Amino acid sequence: MSVSELIAAARRARRHAQAAYSGFKVGAALETAGGAIVTGCNIENATYGLTVCAERVAMFKALSDGHRAFTRIAIVADTDSPTPPCGACRQILWEFGGNLEVHLANMHEHKGVHQLKDLLPLPFDARLL
Ligand code: THU
Repeated sequence: MSVSELIAAARRARRHAQAAYSGFKVGAALETAGGAIVTGCNIENATYGLTVCAERVAMFKALSDGHRAFTRIAIVADTDSPTPPCGACRQILWEFGGNLEVHLANMHEHKGVHQLKDLLPLPFDARLL
């Protein structure tokens, strides 16, 4: 699968975002080691604090479906500046996805790619327990 297909899947997932409070819709598409795509969107709710970001929705869906190894994730928002994953998502993506390629895009273009290890230096993870 190409990066543009992964980004296209994230853009489609974004349409399902539940962002009634912030108005900020995000889509994510996670590629499994087997080449499947699992998507997610942000899910806000009236508590505000129980919001879950698009990236964690995608990862939790994938884990719940039995996927265990991942290669890349695309994250899309409708902004000129790219939307990098928040700290909580970096932690979860690292624990379950390892050093993913993180592709950031908006509705029109691919804005950049990062390695997750660079976004989460000195991580806390199971090796330290
Ligand atoms: N959000 C994501 O879904 N992913 C990100 O990478 C950044 C933020 C969501 C959380 C919340 O619903 C809205 O965007 C505004 O923070």
